[in-house]
Amino acid sequence: MSSLFKKGPLPRYYQLKEIMREKIEAGEWKPGDLIPSERELCEQYGISRMTARQAITELVNEGLFFREQGRGTFVSHQKITQQLIRLTSFTEDIKARGQQPGTRVLLAQMCTPDEAAITRLRIKANQPVFHLRRLRLANDEPLALESSHLSFMGCERLLEEDLGQSLYALLEKKYGLPLVEAEQELEAGIATTEEAQYLKIPIGSPVLYIRRTTYTERNIPVEFASSVYCGHKYTFYVNLKRDQ
Ligand code: GLP
Repeated sequence: MSSLFKKGPLPRYYQLKEIMREKIEAGEWKPGDLIPSERELCEQYGISRMTARQAITELVNEGLFFREQGRGTFVSHQKITQQLIRLTSFTEDIKARGQQPGTRVLLAQMCTPDEAAITRLRIKANQPVFHLRRLRLANDEPLALESSHLSFMGCERLLEEDLGQSLYALLEKKYGLPLVEAEQELEAGIATTEEAQYLKIPIGSPVLYIRRTTYTERNIPVEFASSVYCGHKYTFYVNLKRDQ
């Protein structure tokens, strides 16, 4: 039995949290590792089940651990921080984190736009758009499901492209469409059955819905994307300045 607990005002669950946090920081517990069960922690540290549960639950809520139904509790992967003021692509975000971006193309076709695409892309209802649905991965692990509608002259040529590569790079380098700015909305939600299957998370897990309209020069919209990100793997960062 460990004698790591100190006497004093700090509650035991809090001390256990700190012990587990240190194990992660020291690299003893790595991302994706299964952590000991409540019962094992009780035996190891001579604490009550409630103390172990509280420590684990708090670290789940803080995003350091994630639970998988029927499998146990695991150490989360370091969150990806996306700056909210810079317009970056998925590929750039993942590379900046030192990971390997990946894409599984689920759908690529010309179609008639839905209501959201008509409004965001400022097009007519009968104007065909390119619809691209992709599962986005980092080091082979699913992070987001993205559904993009694209509208620009000659967008049907995208059908012939390798869409496993960066879409932004393709638009900028091959199609001569500089991506200047974007509008983005974030909304909290819970994973549907289909989203959970693709993202390999339990149904009902927290997710972030992100809608982004990306503009080229002269404020012309080229892409409207609706994405679902695994809630426990993403942090959005924004620097706020107070009016002087
Ligand atoms: C982000 C945006 C998408 C955009 C994508 C481009 O994920 N939410 O709207 O399509 O970046 O990323 P990439 O260039 O890696 O395809």
